[in-house]
Amino acid sequence: MDSVSRPPTPDGAPLLGHGLAFARDPWTAMREWAEEGDVVYLRFPGRSQHMVTAPELIQRVLVERDDEFTVSRVQQRTFEGVEENGVAATTGDRWKRLRRALQPAFARDGVRSYGDRMAERTADHVDRWDDGDRIDLLAEMRSLTLRVLCDTLLGVDVAGDEHVVHDAADALVAKTDFRRVGQLFPDWVPTPTDRRFDRAVGEMDDFVASVLADASPGEESVAGVLLAARERGDVSTAEVEDNLAGLLLAGHDSTAVTLTYAWYELSRHPEARRRLVEEVESVLDGDLPGTEEFDALSRTHDAVRETLRLYPPAFAVNRQATEPTTLGGYDLPAGAQLMLPQWVVHRDGRFWDDPDAFDPTRWGRDDDRPEYAYFPFSGGPRHCIGMRFARLELVVALATMADRVDLDVSVDGDLTFTPSLSLRPDNDVYATVRRD
Ligand code: HEM
Repeated sequence: MDSVSRPPTPDGAPLLGHGLAFARDPWTAMREWAEEGDVVYLRFPGRSQHMVTAPELIQRVLVERDDEFTVSRVQQRTFEGVEENGVAATTGDRWKRLRRALQPAFARDGVRSYGDRMAERTADHVDRWDDGDRIDLLAEMRSLTLRVLCDTLLGVDVAGDEHVVHDAADALVAKTDFRRVGQLFPDWVPTPTDRRFDRAVGEMDDFVASVLADASPGEESVAGVLLAARERGDVSTAEVEDNLAGLLLAGHDSTAVTLTYAWYELSRHPEARRRLVEEVESVLDGDLPGTEEFDALSRTHDAVRETLRLYPPAFAVNRQATEPTTLGGYDLPAGAQLMLPQWVVHRDGRFWDDPDAFDPTRWGRDDDRPEYAYFPFSGGPRHCIGMRFARLELVVALATMADRVDLDVSVDGDLTFTPSLSLRPDNDVYATVRRD
């Protein structure tokens, strides 16, 4: 197809362009813009974006022509100060080297062996709740997923220091909230959010340094794998530190929000909850789930899949063109910024019946949709390195919880989300614990 210069541009405000609608309600705005084309051109203060919502074009960018695109400037800037030497913030040969150094910690069999411990940690956590307790669900899930991550993959003793990681995660979310007015200022104008971020990251750096001081190269953990890579001369000390910090943050927040939304939806859909509990009781028969039961828990898998469809923790993947290229018949200059929003594609009525409804049973029915109509973990060589770990944890944790408690979830007002690194709810989400 011959290319034409620029994709359609939805109406925007005179000065702030599409930034105004995005700041007011990004979730509605992105879906409305997508109605104008598979690729649309958007203007935000100080930058422009091409939003791409056709699955085959997303696949082209992430998989088939991934050499023409790299992670965006926005993403690289996001991690400045906290993990600029981490795998998520780097590009080119440096990214390849870091990804290769980390890969042994994420090998399939190694990750699957964590199943039993994930279930034990979840059971310990849940067993502290009494019938009738009212819990802050997101806070509880964040505490649980951080413990699980540290006790398994990372090999980090986080007891007593949880608040350091949580503060750093909160500061990063606040800093990257796209609605924040401070985002419009140049970097050298420090805002209170920037100062809070610097403080929290400083404490996190101290914590990471203390963890590494106690770890040994070759230990079966990310810390051990990274230290062994440093001994071989494959990575520097700064890269070891930043990757551990990056995994502490990336490895718990997204799983915590997913479990929170899973319970939110299960609480509103008694039939889906009943089907899940029925499966869990028959597969587990009173035991904890482990690696063997993982495959048999198909309804639990479907509930997790459906939650990640409706509430993709990374609401969009970012890329930028490394060279002048074309996409969907449009010219893209080198440096063009691309937004590939799971939020929009996962709720697109062209691929999903009743797209806003929570229906885990759909996963047993429709499978004739394009592959990239669903990509919560992104795709191609740069897909989420923690995908297997996250899937295992989500299924094991949800099954363990569902076998022990029921949660009645309540939210003040309509559920809305923070447009930031992970799709956190803006609202407080509470749950009342029910035991038989
Ligand atoms: C529900 C849970 C999770 C979701 C939905 C998720 C999603 C994503 C997405 C969409 C990306 C961007 C990939 C790209 O740019 O193409 C990503 C990257 C990444 N994720 Fe996850 N993630 C999850 C859990 C985890 C966990 C548990 C870990 C670690 C233990 C992790 C570590 C990372 C890292 C290090 C990257 C950067 C990879 C790279 O640039 O090579 N994530 N994740």
